[in-house]
Amino acid sequence: MDKVYRIILKRRTIRQFQQKKIPFAFLKKLVNSARLAPSGANLQPCAYIVVDDSPLLDKVFTTLKWAGYIAPAGNPPEGKRPVAYIVVLVNQEISKYGEKDAAAAIENMILTAWEKGIASCWIGSIDRKKLRLLLKIPPGYKIDFVLALGYPDERSVTEKFKGSIKYWKDKQGVLHVPKKRIESILRHNIWSEK
Ligand SMILES: Cc1cc2nc3c(=O)[nH]c(=O)nc-3n(C[C@H](O)[C@H](O)[C@H](O)COP(=O)(O)O)c2cc1C
Repeated sequence: MDKVYRIILKRRTIRQFQQKKIPFAFLKKLVNSARLAPSGANLQPCAYIVVDDSPLLDKVFTTLKWAGYIAPAGNPPEGKRPVAYIVVLVNQEISKYGEKDAAAAIENMILTAWEKGIASCWIGSIDRKKLRLLLKIPPGYKIDFVLALGYPDERSVTEKFKGSIKYWKDKQGVLHVPKKRIESILRHNIWSEK
């Protein structure tokens, strides 16, 4: 099977991580994959803060919320927390609509990481005020998302959609993520009711 497609099929959000450091050079490579993502009008409004310093990791963790549908069961426990974060910022002077650029950049990073066995969680539920103070982010930059990273220490699998999009955790701690069937979202040439 084609490499990128295989990675896309296998990728899942992971929220528990081994406590093994990710080399800074690799984190920089992730930002490089973000740098080369599609960008509306090629404005490239995004900037990135890589956080991998231990005391700071603990502080960033306190600004994030995890797995809303199963809270607090999805919170990474101590000893399984992310070993790095990439905070995605949008320079508001360049673009007020950078969220889509940020999303494309994040997906590039997620797939680049997964290819090397590094998992991630895309996080939008952030105490942005607190994080801004913590990382001394200037007012001209909007905090869009945080990408939490680490080598996986939990399993997550897709499930057939059976009426609910809510993911769940089983007794073994495996996360089950329902995905809609292709037939329910794909139309060919013209719209038709199913
Ligand atoms: C825009 C966006 C915001 C998200 N925010 C959070 C978040 O704040 N906390 C969290 O634990 N997961 C967050 N996620 C991860 C989703 O919960 C996850 O992608 C979804 O459950 C599907 O699982 P999958 O990525 O394994 O397919 C976010 C994902 C996206 C795309």
